Amino acid sequence: MTTLHDSASASARAASGVLFDGLLPQPPDVVLSLIKLFREDPRAGKIDVGVGVYKDEQGRTPVFAAMKAAEQRLLETQHTKSYLGPEGDFGYLERLTPIIFGTGAAAADLFAVQTPGGTGALRLAAELASAGKPGARIWLGAPSWPIHAPIFAEAGLEVMTFRHFDPKTQALTFDETISALEDAAAGDVVLLHGCCHNPSGADPSLDQWRALANLMVRRGLVPLLDLAYQGLGAGLDEDAAGLRIVMETVDNVMVAYSCDKNFGLYRERTGALFVRARAHADVVRTNILKIARCAWSMPPDHGAAAVRVILEDAGLTKMWRDELEACRARLQAVREMLAEADPRFEPIRGQRGMFSMLSLTPAQVELMRKDHAIYMTGNARINIAGLTAETIAPFAAAYDAVLRTTSA
Ligand SMILES: Cc1ncc(COP(=O)(O)O)c(C=O)c1O
Repeated sequence: MTTLHDSASASARAASGVLFDGLLPQPPDVVLSLIKLFREDPRAGKIDVGVGVYKDEQGRTPVFAAMKAAEQRLLETQHTKSYLGPEGDFGYLERLTPIIFGTGAAAADLFAVQTPGGTGALRLAAELASAGKPGARIWLGAPSWPIHAPIFAEAGLEVMTFRHFDPKTQALTFDETISALEDAAAGDVVLLHGCCHNPSGADPSLDQWRALANLMVRRGLVPLLDLAYQGLGAGLDEDAAGLRIVMETVDNVMVAYSCDKNFGLYRERTGALFVRARAHADVVRTNILKIARCAWSMPPDHGAAAVRVILEDAGLTKMWRDELEACRARLQAVREMLAEADPRFEPIRGQRGMFSMLSLTPAQVELMRKDHAIYMTGNARINIAGLTAETIAPFAAAYDAVLRTTSA
C-alpha cells in the first residue's frame, strides 16, 4: 500500500522547486458527497442510510438529555479555560476506564490520554507504532472503516489487508483472518474493531476472540482495538467482552476509544487512547505525550469535561445509560423489522450496531439511489438508524426491485 502523497510523479513534480507542485489531487470524501446529493434530491420519501450518525424515529440526531444537563452544570461551574496539559482531563479518563475495561485484570497497567475523537486516538497509536518500529506493519481486515488504511499509511505504517467478511454469505471469514495473522511477524500491529463492526456489523464470537488473543500472544502481535460504538451493540459490558479477553491475555495492547457515538458528541471530538506496554511503560508514556504535544498540543476540552460530569454523578450516569440503551434497542428493533420484511435480510438480525452491508454491486447501489431515492455508500453499507418502521417496507421493496432488474 502506498501513502496518499507517495508516488513517483509526485516526487518528480516536487523537484520543480515550487512547494505545492508535489501535491496530488485527492478524491472528495464519499460520505460528504452523498450528503450533498441527498440534500439536493427533491423526491418525497427519500431515504438516507449513508451517513454514519445515530438517528431517532424522527430522523434526528439529538443531544442526549444527560449531556444537556452536564453541559448546563459545566456552564455554571467551570471558572477557567486555562490549559489542561497533553493528557487532557484526568477525571474523564479515570471515570471512563472501568466502563471500558471493567475493574479486573483487563484494566491493569494502562496509560491513558484524551484525544480528539477516536480518529485522534488511532492516529496517535499509529504514530507511536511507527516511531517504535519504523516501517512497522499493521494488519487490517477488509472491509473496514475507509479511514483506517489512510490513517495508518499516513503515519508511515505498511498496511496489510486480509478478507474477514463475505457480504454474499454475510458471515465472517474467520479462517482467512487466522491464516493471514499466522503470517504476521512479531511486533506487527493488528487492528480489531472492539464491537459493532463498521461496515459489516459482524463481530467475532467470544471463542473467536479467545482464539485471536492466543494467536497474538503466540506470534508476538500487538492488538490495536478500535472501540467506537460501545453500548450500541448488545450493551456496555457485552460490547467490551472481546476487548477484555484480549486485555487479559496479551501484554502489549493499544485501545482507541470514541465517545462520539455513545455520548452523541460527534463534533466535540471526544476520545481516548489507552496503552499497556509493560516492559516499556515509561518510554511509551513520554513518547505518547510528545506525539500528542506536537500534533494538537492538548485535546479539546468540552466533550470530555461533559462526559466526566455525567460519570461523576450517579443520576446523570443512569440517565445516560438509559438513553444509550434506548438507542441500542431502536437499532435492534430495526434489525428485527428488516429480517421480518425480507428473508434475505435475516443475517442482519444477528449483526450488531449501526451498520450492516448488503450484497449489492456498486451499479446496484447506484440504482437504489437513481430509481428509489435510497442513499448508501458505494460498498452497500447501510446505517440501520437511517430506517424507521415506516421506511422498512419501501426499502425492502426497492432492494427486491433492484435485484430483479439486475439479475434478469
Ligand atoms: C470504526 C470507527 N473507528 C473510529 C471512528 C472515529 O470516531 P470519531 O468520530 O470519534 O473520530 C469511527 C467513526 O465513524 C469508526 O466508525
